[in-house]
Amino acid sequence: MKNENKALSGWDAPYAAAPESSSHAKIKKQYDLFIGGKWVKPSSGKYFDTINPATELKIAEIAEANASDVDLAVKSSRKAYDTVWSKLPAKERGKYLFRIARMIQERSRELAVIETMDGGKSIRESRDIDIPLVSAHFFYYAGWADKLEYAFPNRKVQSLGVAGQIIPWNFPLLMAAWKIAPALACGNTVVLKPAETTSLTALKLAEIIQDSGLPDGVVNIVTGFGATGAAIVKHPDVNKVAFTGSTDVGKLIQKSIAGTDKKLTLELGGKAANIIFDDAPIDQAIEGIINGIFFNQGHVCCAGSRLFVQENVADLVISKLKRRMETLIVGDPMDKNTDIGAINSKQQLKTITDYIEIGKNEGAEMFQSSCSLPGKGFFVRPTLFTNVAQSHRISREEIFGPVLAIQTFRTIEEVVEKANNVPYGLSAGVWTDKGSKIFNLTQKLRAGVVWANTYNKFDPTSPFGGYKESGFGREGGMHGLDAYLK
Ligand code: NAI
Ligand code: MG
Repeated sequence: MKNENKALSGWDAPYAAAPESSSHAKIKKQYDLFIGGKWVKPSSGKYFDTINPATELKIAEIAEANASDVDLAVKSSRKAYDTVWSKLPAKERGKYLFRIARMIQERSRELAVIETMDGGKSIRESRDIDIPLVSAHFFYYAGWADKLEYAFPNRKVQSLGVAGQIIPWNFPLLMAAWKIAPALACGNTVVLKPAETTSLTALKLAEIIQDSGLPDGVVNIVTGFGATGAAIVKHPDVNKVAFTGSTDVGKLIQKSIAGTDKKLTLELGGKAANIIFDDAPIDQAIEGIINGIFFNQGHVCCAGSRLFVQENVADLVISKLKRRMETLIVGDPMDKNTDIGAINSKQQLKTITDYIEIGKNEGAEMFQSSCSLPGKGFFVRPTLFTNVAQSHRISREEIFGPVLAIQTFRTIEEVVEKANNVPYGLSAGVWTDKGSKIFNLTQKLRAGVVWANTYNKFDPTSPFGGYKESGFGREGGMHGLDAYLK
């Protein structure tokens, strides 16, 4: 795969490829379920393939867990909770988490390579963002394990029991860390299901957990599709459900546990507004917009997928954006030069290309970078739409791809009204030179996270979560403990 980049250099030479080596990544041909500290064959005997979305080649076979496998996992989780984990002094729980955090750091190169192979995101992201955040998350919650009474002064905290956790494919190992680390720190045990296209790093984490000596059954990892997830949600002995994924599945889960005493957190979709005022540092804002929507192929629930530009700078911002888009390198995710890797699955690629067609049919004006795409694998050019109306589907619905819908505004009142006028409320961005405008907007925007003069910045100490159809509950920070305690 060649990355041609004429626009950046102004001459016809493509960049030389600089692929990361994958020779050190240890991947088995077949993975079983991780239950009770052991690798267990699925009772149905069924396995499914996980592929590399950049090459469409099979990487490994993954066990498909059915309801009876899930039952076994929940039982082993309950046993570990009752006999070991809930009895262990908190500082001992912390030590295990510190050990897991360090082991993730030690194996970070291999984890980054596997994340990129299995999911399609660029190696630069998995190496510099995902995996460092994974270990940071374990370190952060390790520190809380024996200090819970300081997080909730004058209250007696108690763990919940067995946590069933279902995660998506956009940040596979990071979402596993977001779920597992606080659950264990608070004294719960876990049954986790990774997404069907990206199970491998969760299974590598199971190997790390095994090597760490964590008592058997404290963490169980079951792989499979939606039915496996549904079996976890419905299991009567699960005390807490944590889900990150689509709003549709989130609603199904909420319905299915209504009337039970299961505790629930949902982190669902988004349609974030990135708002650029005329007094913003424009070049910095351009980088923020690019990062906001093209980072991780736009497979980000908090992606800055709607851009609101103040009318008097709209032409300038849009022309700079287009120029910058032309310089983005789309292609082999394992190449260290690559900005935009592979779309996670054929199905997601279809969703994105369908939305691009919808945008054109709705009358919006499309611009795509002129880069060439690899012949194999799932790729799409970075895309923006202008002449977008508030009613267009591309400005209301989550696309989950590198597609930006641009609208203009004149006043603060107008942009607040437009930004809030979607069913989602996960995140937003504000670009301006004026601190007062930032504080004014953070009050008025109905979004769980508002970034000011930056975008897509994550830190384990900072809580994350949404309003409205983006879900409820917070992950990260001290707030993230609340979801795993009585
Ligand atoms: P999805 O919501 O179906 O998948 C997320 C996880 O839920 C996966 O592990 C899946 O196996 C599991 N799951 C599916 N059906 C389930 C059920 N009935 N009960 C329990 N678990 C179930 O998301 P999908 O289909 O992969 O993506 C569709 C759209 O969802 C994307 O285009 C995007 O818009 C959105 N999405 C949002 C994410 C976020 O971070 N908020 C992450 C992934 C997708
Ligand atoms: Mg895969």
